[in-house]
Amino acid sequence: MPQTHAIYAHPGEDLLSAVLQQFDVHDDHLFNITRTFLREMWDGLESYGHDMAMIPTFVRSTPDGSEKGTFLALDLGGTNLRVCEVNLHGDKTFSLRQQKYKVSDALKTGEATTLFDYLADSVDAFLTDSGSPTCALPPSLTPRDLTEASDPVDVHGSYIPLGLTFSFPVEQTALDSGKLLTWTKGFSAKNAIGNDVVKLLQDAFDRKHMHVRCVALVNDTVGALLSRAYTSGGCILGAIFGTGTNGAYVEDVANISKLGRSEEVKEGGLMVVNTEWGGFNNSRSALPSTPYDKKVDRESINPGKQGFEKFISGMYLGEIARNVIVSLIDVAPKSLLFSGHSSKQLNKQWGVDTAVLSEVEEAWEGIGRFAPEDSSRQPSVQQKLERIRDVIVRRMELPPDSVSLDDADIIRKICTHIAWRAARLSACAVAAVLVQTGRARLTRGDEEAKNTVTLVDEGKRIGVGVDGSLVEHYPYFEKKLRASLRVLVGDDVEHRVDIGLAKDGSGVGAALCALVACRQNITKQY
Ligand code: GLC
Repeated sequence: MPQTHAIYAHPGEDLLSAVLQQFDVHDDHLFNITRTFLREMWDGLESYGHDMAMIPTFVRSTPDGSEKGTFLALDLGGTNLRVCEVNLHGDKTFSLRQQKYKVSDALKTGEATTLFDYLADSVDAFLTDSGSPTCALPPSLTPRDLTEASDPVDVHGSYIPLGLTFSFPVEQTALDSGKLLTWTKGFSAKNAIGNDVVKLLQDAFDRKHMHVRCVALVNDTVGALLSRAYTSGGCILGAIFGTGTNGAYVEDVANISKLGRSEEVKEGGLMVVNTEWGGFNNSRSALPSTPYDKKVDRESINPGKQGFEKFISGMYLGEIARNVIVSLIDVAPKSLLFSGHSSKQLNKQWGVDTAVLSEVEEAWEGIGRFAPEDSSRQPSVQQKLERIRDVIVRRMELPPDSVSLDDADIIRKICTHIAWRAARLSACAVAAVLVQTGRARLTRGDEEAKNTVTLVDEGKRIGVGVDGSLVEHYPYFEKKLRASLRVLVGDDVEHRVDIGLAKDGSGVGAALCALVACRQNITKQY
């Protein structure tokens, strides 16, 4: 649980505690949320139209590290757009050259064709800057494949295969097609929803007469799952805790009832499902919503949507904190923060980035850029609070003399509480996937169900690939998630969960999918 470390006695301590307590998630609550999560997963596996889209991805197996080839990957997910050339070496390693491009708000909210033209331009610029492309069909395909294969794959070797990582909810109908269900994370480009995103991209390439063919479409969570499987030899869950949050896991095809009597179901086996768990519990019946959360939701461009994501992800944590801070400045008759001063930065929606929370916690823990040169000389509490005060003055653009050490301590507590809640809720999602895939049972609950469920792979390592700014940069996010996971599934299972960073997962995952697509297309043609 969050430490309510009272160093200074604040006059409004009771009020502050009352505000902070609203962010506590007790163990009972964790179990309820996880059970509701499982129910919503089952609803989504049955049909579309539920909070969690549970999208079948048509990815039927995970890589083992022996895959080889060089592919282009385009990654549109949140803050940045990336174009990369990924070289899979076939020995669990890869190399990658990449270029990042900024996606302006005007592009995010304008016409879809303008956005997709920009994507095509970025690929064009990458290919031009990086000289002649080295991408080609994987070496496992023979020169005969190259010369005799007909469209769409690399006709006479003239098309470059590209995998698209598109990190929004897309209802896939095949590895290389799917329609956008809704935008998330601040995107709202017009005339995209309901359309096939591969076609939108391919049309943009074709308008520019580029010899690039989009052969595969993946979500970033699927990318994280595949790339972690490639580098570590096995993975059942790929999860993103970044600008948004979401997870993809390996499901038994028999459980995906919305596939009906399709070929995939007849064949049996496994399929990766993109849960779109950011949309879990949009009604908020199970989520611990505070007035601050409700305000953030109401003022967002998608009120009533992405319920879970708004409690967890990097896009929202800073904004929740900003709302708490402003409300404490405004408390009457005596302000609880900054002697009643606010700033332009604090008054502006999205004015506090989640990176500020991260910095405050780093300063408190004495880690990251605040780590002492000599690790045996930890800074004193006073020094830590002074550093936090510097962060506040700089990032919230407040006059230095309006920020006291008391204020710094209050800000620290706010950040800790919001981050703890995010990590605890994240653990519910991970636990639900472990239960759904037969890797774990909840440590509390229905005794009868516990005895009838047979666990799979008992005693074995459980591979989980993660990516995103929170897991990568937020102090102790994984440690906090693990603490709650232990409560939910027990020490033994938590111990076997091998969480690894799927660095560059989006690029590598797209490359792996492009490889599968190329193989399938070649096979179809012979
Ligand atoms: C949002 C998107 C989802 C993506 C996640 C992480 O939740 O809807 O598709 O995986 O963000 O980037």
